[in-house]
Amino acid sequence: MSETKSDTQKPLEGTSRRKFVAGATATSAAAASTLPVEMFAQVAGSDQIKVGMIGCGGRNSGAIIQNLNASDSAQLVAIADAFEDKIDGTGPRASGLPKIQAQLEKQGKAAQIDVPASRQYAGFDAYKQVVDQVDMVCIATPPGFRPIHFEYAVQQGKHVFMEKPVCVDAWGFNKVIEAAKQADEKNLKVVVGLQRHYQNSYLEAFKKVHEEGMIGDIIGAQAWWNGNRPWIVKRQDGWSEMEYQMRNWYHFNWLCGDHIAEQHVHNIDVINWFVSGNSEKGGNPVSAQGMGGRAGTEPHSVGEIFDHHYVEFRYGNDHNNAIMNSQCRHIGGTWRKVAEEIHGSDGILHLAGGQITDLKGNVKWQYRKPRSGDPNPYQVEHDMLHKCVKEDTPINNAYYGAKSSFTSSLGRMATYSGQMITWDEAVESDFSIMPENYDFNAEPPVKPDADGNYQVAIPGQYKLPWKDGGNAKGKKGKAA
Ligand SMILES: NC(=O)c1ccc[n+]([C@@H]2O[C@H](COP(=O)([O-])OP(=O)(O)OC[C@H]3O[C@@H](n4cnc5c(N)ncnc54)[C@H](O)[C@@H]3O)[C@@H](O)[C@H]2O)c1
Repeated sequence: MSETKSDTQKPLEGTSRRKFVAGATATSAAAASTLPVEMFAQVAGSDQIKVGMIGCGGRNSGAIIQNLNASDSAQLVAIADAFEDKIDGTGPRASGLPKIQAQLEKQGKAAQIDVPASRQYAGFDAYKQVVDQVDMVCIATPPGFRPIHFEYAVQQGKHVFMEKPVCVDAWGFNKVIEAAKQADEKNLKVVVGLQRHYQNSYLEAFKKVHEEGMIGDIIGAQAWWNGNRPWIVKRQDGWSEMEYQMRNWYHFNWLCGDHIAEQHVHNIDVINWFVSGNSEKGGNPVSAQGMGGRAGTEPHSVGEIFDHHYVEFRYGNDHNNAIMNSQCRHIGGTWRKVAEEIHGSDGILHLAGGQITDLKGNVKWQYRKPRSGDPNPYQVEHDMLHKCVKEDTPINNAYYGAKSSFTSSLGRMATYSGQMITWDEAVESDFSIMPENYDFNAEPPVKPDADGNYQVAIPGQYKLPWKDGGNAKGKKGKAA
């Protein structure tokens, strides 16, 4: 990402700005890239694991505690966020470093955090400063940035925990897959925050289906994320358009990927996992078609995303032509359900209840109840990451993370366009919806009209980026 001076200056005001731009102790990107991976990546047997945080929001404030709890040798040493006020905890929806500090103190683990002002960075390029001086990085920013951050961390030879989704377009997907291959070559460990892969009831159910054949051949699946209305950050005087979109990121595709990616990716990922039967690299559908729209719960001045999607994903001949019916909605006052079902020739797996029934509804298997003693999957994923680093065993969730994230993008392109689209054409197009420049004064890829409203896709009129002069902007698959 190109950073201009205004990247860091815009959100950093007053005297505190100096601490974020100082970076005196940071190894420069240029210097770091000339050193061997072993100089940076934690190697089996060595002691301290320096951890960095990219994104100091709600999720990473919890993820970092889980990461540090996973290993006494881990120490948080550097932190980056686009905004200074997200680090010090004073901005809208801020969590902040003080909360993390307080939590660790409460746990008697204050020694596991050492982030002086000189190692706190803000701005679009702040991530580089953090990556350059740690062994492991926890990334939980809006997902549009994930491919850029992940690619850089791998280039610099760092182990990675990164939240889902890991991309919002084909350009990002291809970047993550490429970086995943490099991570394998460099023996780096990568965990993605699709925590159902670390949840006992899902792992047991996977065995029942794929080792014991309890539901027969998989022929279909249902996935739901019908939930709450998402948070909104109101525009404030003095904010540039870029700042508004960054602060209200859930409502913009280049940052969030729409609700179908941001939340529903969890359920879509489970279906990819179970239908493919591949726990390591995952799988993906071959095509998608669907419908969706914006029923009107939020004014168009808030953003551009849909509030409901229903997509039929098809997995093709290699997977019994199985179909996933995926639905996600965030409209208040509607039926709520977050769950997955796998339908087989001999039974149905209900993942939310941890149960297999036959086709008449008789219970064939029940995951043990109560589940209260089960380990927290949000903790287990970090335990696994540190265990694999320590024992030098392979782990790389980036492949299935990318496939599931891009399945969500495929669904979004299907509902926006109202067309039947294939996985291969979308991936090969390498379309991007990301901005050309990252700067608080730069133009974001979408802008409001004269009345302050954002254009929302209209099926039948929305043009796919790789066809008919599509309307996605960005580096490739550009508006023709
Ligand atoms: N696995 C889960 O169950 C789970 C739960 C919650 C969130 N998440 C994921 O975590 C990610 C973050 O979600 P959140 O709820 O913490 O959002 P958040 O808005 O609370 O935090 C994101 C932070 O990233 C910062 N940021 C934005 N762009 C940045 C950039 N280029 N460089 C550095 N920092 C940047 C923001 O300023 C913000 O502080 C999302 O991808 C979300 O899907 C996963």
